[in-house]
Amino acid sequence: MTNLAIVVLAAGMGTRMKSALPKVLHKIAGRSMVGHALHAAKALNAVKAVIIHGPGMAAVQQEARNVFSDCVFAEQNDRLGTGHAVQMAKQALIGFEGTVLVLYGDVPLIQPETLCGLMAKLDGQHKMAVLGFETQSPFGYGRLIGDANGIIDIREERETNAQEKTIKLCNSGIVAIDNALLWQIIPKLSKENSKGEYYLTDLVKLAVAAKTTVALAMCKENEVAGVNDRIQLAVLEHVFQQEARRLAMENGATLIDPETVYFSADTKLGKDVIIEPNVVFGPQVVVGDNVEIFAFSHIEGATIANGARIGPFARLRPGAEIGENAHIGNFVEIKKAKIGKGAKANHLTYIGDAIVGAGSNIGAGTITCNYDGYDKHLTDIGENVFVGSNTSLVAPVKIGAGANIAASSVITADVPADALALTRVPAVVKVGWAKRYRAMKQAAKAAKKKT
Ligand code: UD1
Ligand code: MG
Repeated sequence: MTNLAIVVLAAGMGTRMKSALPKVLHKIAGRSMVGHALHAAKALNAVKAVIIHGPGMAAVQQEARNVFSDCVFAEQNDRLGTGHAVQMAKQALIGFEGTVLVLYGDVPLIQPETLCGLMAKLDGQHKMAVLGFETQSPFGYGRLIGDANGIIDIREERETNAQEKTIKLCNSGIVAIDNALLWQIIPKLSKENSKGEYYLTDLVKLAVAAKTTVALAMCKENEVAGVNDRIQLAVLEHVFQQEARRLAMENGATLIDPETVYFSADTKLGKDVIIEPNVVFGPQVVVGDNVEIFAFSHIEGATIANGARIGPFARLRPGAEIGENAHIGNFVEIKKAKIGKGAKANHLTYIGDAIVGAGSNIGAGTITCNYDGYDKHLTDIGENVFVGSNTSLVAPVKIGAGANIAASSVITADVPADALALTRVPAVVKVGWAKRYRAMKQAAKAAKKKT
């Protein structure tokens, strides 16, 4: 396998997004669009990634590094075309031996397998390959012009004649090219065209002139659709979700109403998972086998072990680690907390910055008071603890294994193992009081009516 470097074009702010955020940082399935392109590059084991961004896009650099830690950056100050944008990568790629793959920060759905197919077209004879697709509405795309040997030119929409406008074989923009050939021919690009830009697409005829054959690989139109506004962003989100739902079911999850379940790009599901309607998976969720997730649950940054039951109406926030066969019920919120094997929190509870031991039962309305207005503190609950309903656990606090907390207690001190803790005001019961009270009130009312 030859070495692979990728160049991601991400210079445009995307004025039609009407956003303070650079376009490529907008998200599809919880992952930035530039993140999607970089994940594809990682899947292909690219050894180098060069991001071409616009002026003042430190946030793009930060995001790119989060995905591909040693990627490098080049700034394109004047947007003189796609060919010019790739030229910005020269410093980063000089002397590199291998293939360069040009991707786009606003084309997020491209699949690694498709890119593999594109690169597989390269050999000693074919030092360049373009990724094309067929569409019934080719308007706006560059058209691929070929002969028996391969692609010989790409004609941009503005340069096409009437016959060429009917061509349905279009250019995705994605191209793979031998690095040495790239830097040999790219200086020859000219901006003598109707847009007055350096077209990357002109590399095809320059490559042919340099005696190489340009190969073609095909893909689906959806995969190379770009985003220019928030309507297209929503369309691609929909395409992504449809595919994620299909894959989830194909891999052994039951989705009772697939259209209402939303995944993140990195959601991982085990086998025989059942997901009821209206469930949202935010980023970084890992679900084990035989897990049931009931309706209207919102889950992000959480791991759920085998056999656990979540919801309905549960909220798992980042750092929630739900143990095997644990139950998290309705209106329960878990944040940065480990819930042990078989533990239960079935109703109306907040557990944050906590450890709940195996087999413990957290009663309805229990709250871990984890925040004092300045710092977060730990609530450490041992195994097989019974926490009665409506208990406040004021952290930092430790409840020993097997302890019992009486309902409605406010626990501000550690409780030893197997102890009972209660802070309840003793109950006062007055036999017959209510009956006497009613009689008194009714008599008073009757006397008032008479007068
Ligand atoms: C380009 C292709 C066209 C292809 C189409 C697919 C060229 C000349 N044409 O056309 O054949 O069918 O994409 O969608 O390449 N960019 C920069 N710097 C620039 C110019 C562009 O970073 O100076 C980036 C843009 O942000 C965008 C991408 O390159 O992500 C493509 O540019 P765009 O202007 O959309 O090219 P198209 O005219 O759509
Ligand atoms: Mg475009």
